[in-house]
Amino acid sequence: MPWTASQFSLADFYFSDTDSPLVPPPEYLDWRRDTAWATSLYEPVLCDPAAPTNHLQTATGSQRVINMTSYGYLGLVRHPDVLAAAREALDTFGTGACGSPILSGKSILHQRLEQQMAALTGRDAVLIFNSGFGGALGSAAGLMRKGDVAIVDARAHISLVDGIKVGGARTVFFDHNSAASLDEALTKTAGSRRLIFVDGLYSMDGDMADLPRLLDVAEAHRVGMFVDEAHSILCCGPTGGGVIEHFGVRDRVGLQYGTFSKGFSAVGGFAAASRDVIEYLRFYANPYGFTCALPPVVVAGLSAALDVMTREPERRDALWDNAAYFRRELQAMGVDTGTSTSYIVPIVVGDDRTLLYEMGRTLRDHGLFVTPVDYPTVPLDQARFRASVTTLHTRADLDAALQILADVFVPVMRAKGRVRSRA
Ligand SMILES: Cc1ncc(COP(=O)(O)O)c(C=O)c1O
Repeated sequence: MPWTASQFSLADFYFSDTDSPLVPPPEYLDWRRDTAWATSLYEPVLCDPAAPTNHLQTATGSQRVINMTSYGYLGLVRHPDVLAAAREALDTFGTGACGSPILSGKSILHQRLEQQMAALTGRDAVLIFNSGFGGALGSAAGLMRKGDVAIVDARAHISLVDGIKVGGARTVFFDHNSAASLDEALTKTAGSRRLIFVDGLYSMDGDMADLPRLLDVAEAHRVGMFVDEAHSILCCGPTGGGVIEHFGVRDRVGLQYGTFSKGFSAVGGFAAASRDVIEYLRFYANPYGFTCALPPVVVAGLSAALDVMTREPERRDALWDNAAYFRRELQAMGVDTGTSTSYIVPIVVGDDRTLLYEMGRTLRDHGLFVTPVDYPTVPLDQARFRASVTTLHTRADLDAALQILADVFVPVMRAKGRVRSRA
């Protein structure tokens, strides 16, 4: 009998008893085959650059969709000034950096970006990584050692969790954003060398770390904090300095991490901290020293993106206005948007994972591109679609997306009693 998408999850196939790691569990392959209709919602091919509306490749041609999956929150991916700077760097520096920064050096473009990021974050020094995930993993692994304890928010990004494992430290999770649970975790682990890990803005929930309250607890226990601002750098805070800037807690946070794939619309990551911390990570964060530096063409685009955001801060305001509008309208329809307060807006389905995939297909067929997010990425009873709003979405785009949800999602959820009735 064929298996259904919701009968299992990725959590079921982590361990395998096959003879070789190169032989994946046969049940996994059967499950993937039987549920291809559901998993085909992932990794669609886009026929055009990520934008508020896109064309997805189909078996017979292409389908126009409203794209609410892009991380390019500030719409910089094809900004003319960014493209001009990248083109010039391509002509001058070519396609790649041709070596690790430590052994082969870095370009003056890398040096300028480090200085700009130090200014944006208000820190002494910055390391630039060629991957957001790799930099987060490397920064965590570079700091945490066997015998240490990482105190990690239960919803923190997997790059941090993986990095802590690589470093050899033990992980103790605390309940998402709960100062009381953090206090309990710190009390239980007293006596160990510890560091707290949180995201600035949570990638699946769209809520901000409650930094003021979490820092009060951290400081009472004299434990430092690492904040991953992948989704918040450039988008949050009056000058784009992230959730740390939003809350005005810069001097209370030991290390600010962030990526260049989201607000910046490119690729890469950075760690910003005191000069001493950065000098240590330079040689202990392996994804810095043992890999090629970011291509100068990308670095030039990142610097230009920073310059654009200095000249056009209204792009940030437009993002927040769009986010508030979309969330408010969804909530008015009775849709559960979880704890979101930002441009990342969960559309929560709940524990009916079959419905998640069926609805994902229906929404896609009606022209709305939102991705299903299933367990174990989110809790079993909180399967959802993640919608992200960008500066470039027009009200017409958002209204069209809302209309599709009103037509096909809300009636089904209402029938299941999962939507609040209109007042
Ligand atoms: C909190 C967080 N950290 C790190 C990453 C990895 O960043 P990148 O996609 O730039 O590799 C992500 C990606 O979504 C993230 O959400």
